[in-house]
Amino acid sequence: MILVTGGAGFIGANFVADWLANHAEGIVNLDKLTYAGNLENLATLFDDPRHVFVRGDIGDRPLVDRLLDEHRPRAIVHFAAESHVDRSIHGPAEFIQTNIVGTFHLLEAARGFYERQAATAQRAFRFLHVSTDEVYGSLADDEAAFNEISPYRPNSPYAASKAASDHLVRAYFHTYGLPVLTTHCSNNHGPYQFPEKLIPLLIVNALAGKSLPIYGDGLQIRDWLYVGDHCRGLRRVLAAGRPGETYHIGGGNQRSNLEVVHTVCALLDELHPRPDGRSYAKQIVHVADRPGHDRRYAVDAGKIADELAWRPTENFASGLRKTVCWYLDHRQWLAGAQSGDYRQWLDINYRQRQP
Ligand code: NAD
Ligand code: DAU
Repeated sequence: MILVTGGAGFIGANFVADWLANHAEGIVNLDKLTYAGNLENLATLFDDPRHVFVRGDIGDRPLVDRLLDEHRPRAIVHFAAESHVDRSIHGPAEFIQTNIVGTFHLLEAARGFYERQAATAQRAFRFLHVSTDEVYGSLADDEAAFNEISPYRPNSPYAASKAASDHLVRAYFHTYGLPVLTTHCSNNHGPYQFPEKLIPLLIVNALAGKSLPIYGDGLQIRDWLYVGDHCRGLRRVLAAGRPGETYHIGGGNQRSNLEVVHTVCALLDELHPRPDGRSYAKQIVHVADRPGHDRRYAVDAGKIADELAWRPTENFASGLRKTVCWYLDHRQWLAGAQSGDYRQWLDINYRQRQP
């Protein structure tokens, strides 16, 4: 067994399915089911007895202690987090609570469990912390990509909360010898991403005939990775990563937001043309920028390539085509994700941004 936290969210749900497709070992999936968690993301696994879903908070120490003692996992893969930068700007408190305090409680539970194990079980045990490239802050256009020794310069409350959790994870290795691994991944896209994030938001709005909101000049750059490649990278790190080390996982696909929106529109024009025959690009609108908006992220994924032989299999064009096709084929899921909470969020985030 392994214990996964946040496995009903976007990357977590993809990871759980990917893991069960590639391993005999089962998964205990601990998720609080916040607005971002969705049991529909796990619908294909309902009949798999190797998947045990538990609704709960990573900060609930008695619950986590009980799960660890009952299932005796040989690893914890920690995805659970508040993950949306814009939400962290409107309300940072939950980010501090889950990403920092929650990770602290999870680490404490993991440490207690680890110390109760025999030497052989201790040698096999791993705590894999899933972090982000945003902890390094923003790159200028001519700067080299972030590597594993780049200094931390988080700029949003989300990035700061993830940076704090990374520091705690690191400290538990150095102080208590907990065998931790940390990964920093770039922007993911793919199935089951909550449509508050750029790519699924563009698809939802395009299909609904709504505007496609681009913050500021749209020249901010992100390094895009198909989520399936991220999941495979995490499995490699868990299998062969060295405890105490950090690994970057990135797509090598730096694109400006304008390039992303135009590529999404071109794919939709081809796969699901507008009734009037015009391009979805007509719906692009520039809106007020994100406060403190990081200009550019890019990760150097050379270490994981050299040490663990991981490279992405999808390029930007092939991955994005898969993503757009998935959303077109899963309209029911998309409709379900746009609940009352979602509409409330659109109002909070976009009302004052109108051009
Ligand atoms: P998500 O917001 O889609 O999912 C987060 C999941 O965590 C949800 O299922 C939610 O219910 C659960 N959760 C939240 N608070 C919890 C708590 N207190 N206890 C238990 N469960 C809780 O996020 P995501 O995009 O899938 O990201 C997963 C992880 O990967 C995060 O740690 C994020 O920082 C990191 N990451 C994301 C990206 C990206 O592009 N999405 C890139 C790099 C790293
Ligand atoms: O880099 C990894 C990070 O990528 C993860 O750690 C985060 O959890 C994940 O949310 C993502 O953060 P971003 O802020 O980069 O992703 P988002 O999809 O919110 O935005 C991508 C870019 O698009 C960013 O420059 C902001 C811009 N944007 C976003 C939205 C929602 C717009 O222009 N318009 C929008 O409506």
